[in-house]
Amino acid sequence: MRLYVNIDHVATVRQARRTDEPDPVRAAVLAELGGADGITVHLREDRRHVQDRDVRLLLETARTGINLELAAASEVLALAVEWRPMQATLVPEKREEVTTEGGLALGTPDARRHLGEAVERLRGAGIRTSLFIDPDPDALRASADLGVEAVELHTGEYANTRGAERHEQLGRLRRAAALGHTLGMAVHAGHGLTYENVTLVAAVPEIEELNIGHSIVSRAVLVGLERATREMAEIVRRARA
Ligand code: PXP
Repeated sequence: MRLYVNIDHVATVRQARRTDEPDPVRAAVLAELGGADGITVHLREDRRHVQDRDVRLLLETARTGINLELAAASEVLALAVEWRPMQATLVPEKREEVTTEGGLALGTPDARRHLGEAVERLRGAGIRTSLFIDPDPDALRASADLGVEAVELHTGEYANTRGAERHEQLGRLRRAAALGHTLGMAVHAGHGLTYENVTLVAAVPEIEELNIGHSIVSRAVLVGLERATREMAEIVRRARA
């Protein structure tokens, strides 16, 4: 099992002030020191958090692999082909959404052709390609037909439900992971995973990579705030000493 840490929301905090801190490139170093097997960033068409400069520097400096999330339709595809990250994950993207809301639409021949063209371009550049999909048999079969190396199962519905409903969603993820494996694809998972809900997903044997972002960045703010305040308080008090 590999843990890929998504550092988009370090960039979200920086973009709130359009300054140069916190730098996601520095955050990646710390995530790697903490045991991350890879770093994930979503370069959105609207550049609301991660910027081109971040990806370029991450590709130069990361000791692990970079998983670049992108929409097939965006001009980011050309950048991915130029930059050649170790892995690209194609995701759906809507300007109005707060975060990725579901897996890729693979239901129509048009959608599959469109995605297939993006997959071909990434493959031509030697980039391992994954598709972010809902944990459904049709989506898994369509992904296998497109010849991708991996799929990332959307865990959002599992994360957003409770009790019997969550149990059902876990079963859905387990069946999808088994089918993906049988179809010869590597199975990844992510979205909405937290310190409280990750265990049952991490235990699914066919899942070999998890992408986790918001929960880790959220915890980092809390576990780091006490020390950050203490350091500022010391400077402020020392100024009058
Ligand atoms: N996987 C994909 C495809 C995503 O788009 C995201 C969010 O950017 C994640 C995983 C991580 O989700 P979260 O931030 O909820 O951990």
